[in-house]
Amino acid sequence: MGTPITTSTDSAAESAADNIIIFVPQVDSPAGSGGAKAVDEALDGAISALAADGEIKGKLGDVTILHTLGKMAAKRVLVAGLGKPEKLNLDALRDAAAGAARRARGVGGSNLAIAIDGDPLGTSEAAQAVVEGVQLGLYRFDRHLSPSDDRNDIDGVTLHGSDDAALKRGAEVGEILAEATNFCRDLANEPSNILTPTELAARATQWAKDCGLEIEIIEEGEAAELGMGAFLGVAKGSHEPAKFIVMRYSGGGDEPPIGLIGKGITFDTGGISIKPANNMEAMKQDMSGAAAVIAAAGAIAKLGLPVNVTVLAPATENMPGGSAIKPGDVLKAMNGKTIEVINTDAEGRLILADALSYANHLGLTPLLDVATLTGACAVALGNVATGVMTNDDNLAGEVIEAGVRVGEKFWQLPMYEEYEEQIKSNVADVKNTGGRLAGAQTAAKLLAMFSEDTPWAHLDMAGTDDSDKVKGIYVKGATGTPVRTLVSFVRARGGARLAPRYDSDSLGER
Ligand code: BES
Ligand code: MN
Ligand code: ZN
Repeated sequence: MGTPITTSTDSAAESAADNIIIFVPQVDSPAGSGGAKAVDEALDGAISALAADGEIKGKLGDVTILHTLGKMAAKRVLVAGLGKPEKLNLDALRDAAAGAARRARGVGGSNLAIAIDGDPLGTSEAAQAVVEGVQLGLYRFDRHLSPSDDRNDIDGVTLHGSDDAALKRGAEVGEILAEATNFCRDLANEPSNILTPTELAARATQWAKDCGLEIEIIEEGEAAELGMGAFLGVAKGSHEPAKFIVMRYSGGGDEPPIGLIGKGITFDTGGISIKPANNMEAMKQDMSGAAAVIAAAGAIAKLGLPVNVTVLAPATENMPGGSAIKPGDVLKAMNGKTIEVINTDAEGRLILADALSYANHLGLTPLLDVATLTGACAVALGNVATGVMTNDDNLAGEVIEAGVRVGEKFWQLPMYEEYEEQIKSNVADVKNTGGRLAGAQTAAKLLAMFSEDTPWAHLDMAGTDDSDKVKGIYVKGATGTPVRTLVSFVRARGGARLAPRYDSDSLGER
């Protein structure tokens, strides 16, 4: 669980918290407005003086710490820059709040007050972005570290503003989204000796219980009866039993459920086509797609969105054991199509072939699959954007728009017919690699044979699931992308039939 959040209609200037965060824009003499202005007045204009002096500029990411020295009940004020007003949006505020909260934790003190009042972005929207920023920015994966006195914790955050209902509404949505994103991060960061397919299924089961979702785990025997030869083929090299996780949320009458499908390779050694040792530890995160769809489903349920959603997460290790599949082997997926395995390291598309077949078997539509699928996608888009490949440009547009609303970037890659040539096999319906060129698209072309005629978008997040630096809402390790985008997508699909509890624009949209 994250840091507890409360709200208050008192001015932040009256807060007795250890630290107060106020936000200021990057203008000539930034002194802030609303609660920030009251804090400036309580400090006898210290903030405006430093601003006039050019010491406080309001640049996005800047944090200036002032000691109140008895002028206020609080010990310190952290002045956080928001950047240029013309560029101000919820993404900037989310990142500013994340960075400032981390600075507050680093400087000491266990509780934090944040002035939201006077925010030009709207109180509930700003409260949501600040809560997301604080919870995501303060995230730490420290469960395997020995306890240390050097690690300070923030154990309470109070949002200050005049419209308490709006603060609470925004904070509640922000909490749900941040909790799901951090749950996704916890799963993805967990080492593979702990997070086996069995453990992933167990954690998904607990999460389903907490969020009010139905869950079913398809064991290997049943998967065999269903004909999931590609999924089980990958699982053959491992001693860990594979688990095919199915979660259901019903909030939308009798419409067919949206299918959210995630790649759940709990460790990818490459199999017999084994990977080099360098950086192989990063492959403990090869189940981030599964983690994202499982986490997103929980948030969708907690928000009570008026849609039906089914999550499919095939989970297995990719190991080079004595029974492992070998290059040249032919596997038959659930829809009857055969795949020649050229490289056992192209295992994600194998397990997704069966997951997409099963999605069609269940009648899910549209289908979104989320996967750390190809190094090629990371090379093309870096760690900036997630690749989108689709058989339905409108659907891809909806995903990209959903990402824009929450500050996650997606970029569409083309699905030219010509790429299909590269994955033609002499002995099976398709082969699982298409050579060096257009590696992300040839992988997607294989997936397209299993999504068949159902509207489908494939999100390749091999470059975006992990961060190597601390920046804004990101800390080192799993990013939790695209949990918030998936929720935003599903929420938009729910359209006007929003649960009455939630405001039409309370999900980070403006
Ligand atoms: N899980 C990897 C892709 C990956 C690489 C994710 C780096 C994150 C960071 C995937 O299973 C894989 O090994 N893909 C191969 C496919 C190739 C053999 C056709 C790749 O991209 O090299
Ligand atoms: Mn692989
Ligand atoms: Zn993989």
